[in-house]
Amino acid sequence: MLISRTVTSTFLPAFCQSGLMLGVSILLTLAQVQAAEKKADVSFDRLLNAEQEPGQWLIHGRTFFEQRFSPLKQITQENINKLGLDWHFDINTDRGLEGTPIVVDGVMYAAGAWSIVYALDARNGRLLWSYDPKIAADAASIQCCDIVDRGIAVYKDRVYVAAFDGRLIALNAGDGTPIWEVNTVTDDWPYTITGAPRIVRDKIVIGNSGADLGVRGYVSAYDADSGKLSWRFYTVPGNPAKGFENPAMEMAAKTWKGEWWQYGGGGTVWDSISYDPALDLVYIGVGNGSPWPQDIRSPGGGDNLFLSSIVALKASSGEYVWHYQTTPGETWDYTATQHMILADIEVDGRLRKVIMQAPKNGFFYVLDRANGELLRADAYAKVNWATHVDMKTGRPVETADARYGLTPKFTLPSGMGAHNWHPMSYSPNTGLVYIPAQEIPGMFSQKADFVFSKGSTNLGISLANVAPPEDEATLKEVLSTVHGYLIGWDPVSGKAKWSHEQTSPVNGGVLTTASDLLFQGRGDGKFAAHNAVNGKELWTQEAQTGLIAPPITYEIDGVQYVSIMAGWGGGFSLAFGPLAAQLKVRNVSRILTYSLDGKDKLPPLPVLNVQADSQTLPAGTDPDHIETGKNIYHENCMVCHGAGAIGGGTLPDLRFSSTKTFESWKTIVLKGALRSGGMPAFDKLISSEELEKIRLYIIKRANDFATSNLTNN
Ligand code: HEC
Repeated sequence: MLISRTVTSTFLPAFCQSGLMLGVSILLTLAQVQAAEKKADVSFDRLLNAEQEPGQWLIHGRTFFEQRFSPLKQITQENINKLGLDWHFDINTDRGLEGTPIVVDGVMYAAGAWSIVYALDARNGRLLWSYDPKIAADAASIQCCDIVDRGIAVYKDRVYVAAFDGRLIALNAGDGTPIWEVNTVTDDWPYTITGAPRIVRDKIVIGNSGADLGVRGYVSAYDADSGKLSWRFYTVPGNPAKGFENPAMEMAAKTWKGEWWQYGGGGTVWDSISYDPALDLVYIGVGNGSPWPQDIRSPGGGDNLFLSSIVALKASSGEYVWHYQTTPGETWDYTATQHMILADIEVDGRLRKVIMQAPKNGFFYVLDRANGELLRADAYAKVNWATHVDMKTGRPVETADARYGLTPKFTLPSGMGAHNWHPMSYSPNTGLVYIPAQEIPGMFSQKADFVFSKGSTNLGISLANVAPPEDEATLKEVLSTVHGYLIGWDPVSGKAKWSHEQTSPVNGGVLTTASDLLFQGRGDGKFAAHNAVNGKELWTQEAQTGLIAPPITYEIDGVQYVSIMAGWGGGFSLAFGPLAAQLKVRNVSRILTYSLDGKDKLPPLPVLNVQADSQTLPAGTDPDHIETGKNIYHENCMVCHGAGAIGGGTLPDLRFSSTKTFESWKTIVLKGALRSGGMPAFDKLISSEELEKIRLYIIKRANDFATSNLTNN
């Protein structure tokens, strides 16, 4: 068990305080002292003009436009073969890293798993301080997709981190000491936070997650100075009997049926938020419905506003301005929380201020961001739930067979989406948007005997049919339907200029630079650079772990660095074990930073011992018990331990547990012995008899593995 407690608040104690300065500075390099002495000083003007400071990475997407395009061009297509690892920083957690670091005046601030914040000397990766918000065990075990953190914000002399358990914390950027902390969520619903806070003038805007468990989504703005709540905007209406918070909620309630508020309704703003300072509008990307099948949450239909929508709000008050709903009556986990890029581009002969998004549903949208007018909507991936988007009504035209009932339906995209949270990039040089796209089909069917259980996973779909085929030939056939692509998308023509298939279906976010380089970390464990004009791969390096986070670039003292948080994890590596296991990657958490003269080397990767103690099924085991165990496993354990009990390289693969673990089975699973590591206690959800059936199923799967030709990493 390796958890956050091993990385406690280890900031080099008070070395800025004069008394200790002399003694400690002997141990520090000059660069470290300079970095530590320089207090962060990020005024709002600096953020507004981030474009003028190409050497820094001041905002989540580099500037407010979130284009993830850097004007730096020391690293070019000609010298890229000299790009080497300059430094690496080991992160002592074994969960996914999805964060975008911020680089300000020589210091890199980054958030890792368990929302732990690290401040490093950006020249060499030396730790200046770290801060651990110490997520409580119970909060750690309510999750859909790993205990990840996509980033922090730096404003004035503070670092803002949203902890996984819902707290928003302001830290002193100089030494990591907390200044204020507020709880942004109500503790009676299972909210979490994985997204990065955004600075909007003097406010910090933050959303939350939890729609797969059942919550009511919202976004809040806090005063940056004091932490006082400034405004809150709910994304779905509450119980009408209690009155509406604002006219937008009253309007939204007309599009719902039944008693959706009992389930929360969903619509969490779990990732993308962007801001246009000139229009003073905040854009929020709204998530899926909860539970997933619309028939459960809103029987009889309706659009269910503002699920799967982009909503524009007044930055000063949080008042509703406009919305565009990508998937009315959402029922497939088609979130519109994906990265939103702002750009000023010519569309149909007119310069338009646009906002662009490739949400999970497979269509790429270009909207006028002043008024929400739909300008383009084109399929960027294989889609079988809709034929096209009607440009007159702005609505998708669903295929007759799109909506599922109790019989499983093969759907493209699946709930993983044709594009997930992994950020895109827009290059004003090429005019292309780069999409890390994926083709992962899904089987949807409503769970017949669904009972809502507050605080647990409440997808409302039957998970038993996601178990992978147990014979190798059919498994291979299924695997051949899964693909990952890197797409150079022309947002104006609504077509891909190029599209390259990748080894892994799920890959990292994208960065482009002024020398037409595109950087991307991949699920197969390689960090790669491509020609942004035609997508050709120019350079790769082994990262020793699957990569999902987006890279950044910055410059200090005339040296351009490219940096990425490396650490395999997230929803794909957890739930989609059979697919993820093909990549043979595991989690080794680090920050990897490259430069043209980089000479650093990673230590050799230790060989993993996956030689399981052999377990035997008790003589005369009833095959029906194994079958029941399989179903209970998929309903309760699959989201973390993988379909078919195949681990995807991040959490323990239960087939390889030791005999000792099998002996402590009840203490671990029912009583929560490993709760602090994120393994929930299941005593309220499953009985001892049911647990025994899961155990039999796992032993069977361990035996299947031992007798197959499959190998694991
Ligand atoms: C929310 C995610 C999640 C769910 C759901 C979940 N687990 Fe876990 N499980 C974990 C994590 C995280 C660990 C590793 C904990 C640690 O190392 O401290 C773990 C560890 C375990 C272990 C110990 C494995 C070993 O070899 O060390 C067992 C056994 C286990 N889980 C069984 C189950 C069973 C059975 C279910 C379903 C009833 C289940 N888990 C559901 C997250 C989950």
